[in-house]
Amino acid sequence: MTINVSDAGGRHRSPFRTFARRALALGGAGLVSVTGVVALSGSAQAAGSTLGAAAAGSGRYFGTAVAANHLGESGYATTLDTEFNAVTPENEMKWDAVEGTRNTFNFSNADSIVSHAQSKNMKVRGHTLVWHSQLPSWVSGLAATDLRTAMNNHITQVMTHYKGKIYAWDVVNEAFQDGSSGARRSSPFQDKLGDGFIEEAFKTARSVDSAAKLCYNDYNTDGVNAKSNAVYNMVKDFKARGVPIDCVGFQSHFNSNSPVPSDYQANLQRFADLGVDVQITELDIEGSGSAQATNYSNVVKACLAVTRCTGMTVWGIPDKYSWRASGTPLLFDDNYGKKAAYTAVLTALGGSSSGGGTTDPGTGGGTDPGTGTGSKTCTAAYTATQTWQGGFNGQVTITAGSAAITGWSVKVTLGTGQTTTGVWNGTTAWDSTGKVMTVTPSYNGSLAAGASTSFGFTVQANGNTAAPTVSVCTAS
Ligand code: G3I
Repeated sequence: MTINVSDAGGRHRSPFRTFARRALALGGAGLVSVTGVVALSGSAQAAGSTLGAAAAGSGRYFGTAVAANHLGESGYATTLDTEFNAVTPENEMKWDAVEGTRNTFNFSNADSIVSHAQSKNMKVRGHTLVWHSQLPSWVSGLAATDLRTAMNNHITQVMTHYKGKIYAWDVVNEAFQDGSSGARRSSPFQDKLGDGFIEEAFKTARSVDSAAKLCYNDYNTDGVNAKSNAVYNMVKDFKARGVPIDCVGFQSHFNSNSPVPSDYQANLQRFADLGVDVQITELDIEGSGSAQATNYSNVVKACLAVTRCTGMTVWGIPDKYSWRASGTPLLFDDNYGKKAAYTAVLTALGGSSSGGGTTDPGTGGGTDPGTGTGSKTCTAAYTATQTWQGGFNGQVTITAGSAAITGWSVKVTLGTGQTTTGVWNGTTAWDSTGKVMTVTPSYNGSLAAGASTSFGFTVQANGNTAAPTVSVCTAS
């Protein structure tokens, strides 16, 4: 099974697309963690409890590709606004989207993403100015002189429109061939303007907006290989000759045939050592469960280990809107439930989820108090284990911290319209609204340090398939 990585910049060609969507969606995982018996309250957005907040803890951003036509979907917008602090328009800034007709610019879809991002204080990565794909036919048909004029005009008009609003631009995208040649990819720009089109694009870009970071972005350059060596040599040459370049984007589209390279971190580091920032720009990893989670975790750790790796962007929010949806490559399932991969990323970033609830203000910004304190602690991680039309089963796994515990308590808040029809391996007490159950052990209260148990429940969705909120775990 191969993902057609040589077409990563092209159409939806992954053979995974031909696979039937799994009937049972594996659901979300959220991790909550607090000390002993502290009564907790506070914001759901406590430091480190979301991807963006956790990444900000090390001065980085955590972004996602966004499609303008999904912004009106509440689950989409809520997840975007809650979890991410950077966006990349997935298609809306591409040449065919903004200048389908020569010198007639349409920024409306891109503008809707940029203004949404600005209203939420999110960074925006501009994607992309010069790319062989999603290029209108009028551009490909131009002769060299006219093409150069059109390229520089496109860069100038688009960057001027967004001047002051873009953190980093992918000035040139995917200009190198796959394979061992290390050659430039054939494209209208390459074929008519030669190698120099890349530096010309960067020089024009710098002249328009000197504040935006200017990136070269590509795929299959994530490890040390002939293609990444070619990009490396170009960047080295640019730095030596003073051609403006500030960053290199590593798209990081992975699956079993294109796995996370073992030298991923080393590759990021060697580029950083040239004096540019590096960014993970289009991360998605096909798979599911713990294997997918581990891969995601390794990517995040690699970025964190490289000082000049300034941020990470995943290529979409829920699996269903991924360019290769059948490979379920993202952090959220189709109902915006947090997958195991989400929890792995959050943990790798140094955060811990409040599950929509709270984080102990005494724990130092959401770091896991279960380690190193010797006090009784526990964490609670939610997973939807089974879904069907009309409902789902949820499971909460309780894990003791660094000390043995003899009891635990977790609150589960149902969403609007939801009811439970059964709870197992836990004892429930409901509040007066009938929406919040406090679950304590039935037989499974005593856990050795680091040991786990779980309880489960069935939810009748009544039209609301959102994951219930699992609040803090309190140990005794
Ligand atoms: O908007 C039209 C719609 O009107 C039409 O009905 C439909 C029919 O096919 O097509 C829609 O456009 C699609 C567009 O996505 C928006 O959904 C295009 O066909 C489709 O080709 C396009 O795919 C995009 C792809 O780039 C194109 O190259 C993916 O969404 C996008 O995720 C993907 O992103 C690229 C990065 O820009 C560069 N790196 C690789 C990455 C993955 O291919």
